[in-house]
Amino acid sequence: MYRADHDPWHVESSWYERRKLAVLLASLPRERYRRAWEPGSGPGVTSQALAARVDDLVASDGSPTALELAHRREGMPPHVRFVRSTLPEVPLPGAVDLVVVAEFLYYLPDRPAALDAVWSACEPGGHVVFLHWAHRPHDGFVSGPRLHADIGLDSESRGAAHLVGHVEQDFLLDVYERTR
Ligand SMILES: C[S@@+](CC[C@H](N)C(=O)[O-])C[C@H]1O[C@@H](n2cnc3c(N)ncnc32)[C@H](O)[C@@H]1O
Repeated sequence: MYRADHDPWHVESSWYERRKLAVLLASLPRERYRRAWEPGSGPGVTSQALAARVDDLVASDGSPTALELAHRREGMPPHVRFVRSTLPEVPLPGAVDLVVVAEFLYYLPDRPAALDAVWSACEPGGHVVFLHWAHRPHDGFVSGPRLHADIGLDSESRGAAHLVGHVEQDFLLDVYERTR
């Protein structure tokens, strides 16, 4: 998809995407994070915005073309590191205090393994953000609302604290804190 169109989801151009990104940034409870991971980072638009709030950001994606596009984005700061990696792999040497999972968990066949990977990367006291379209992508396994309901149950079973819940017609955002 990235070879045919450098921005297949119109992440850069649509008002919906730009506004959603603004809501994501406004929902991060802390002003600054030490070290963050963004799996499924795509063309790097979210990564570039997150970089302003994070000292060290690892952006990973399964698509080398997406990573190349992200790496070449104008103004991408040097403290964003791009790594080719496919969830549930965790391409980090240690834990982070922020994980941002945006717009891709519904594409994964094994969501429990993906959630285990995401939570394993987050240190106690760290935050995990989930953000998805509030509908079902034609090529997704599950809808956004079903996914976020499952994420809620999974997070509760892990003892995570629910810090932010944002529900609107077209997207859903939840922020959790790892407590143990
Ligand atoms: C809709 S894009 C979202 C990009 C970005 N997170 C955002 O919100 O702008 C989904 C991305 O997930 C990536 N992806 C899909 N399955 C993946 C997996 N198992 N591991 C890592 N990346 C994956 C795709 O290559 C694509 O770049």
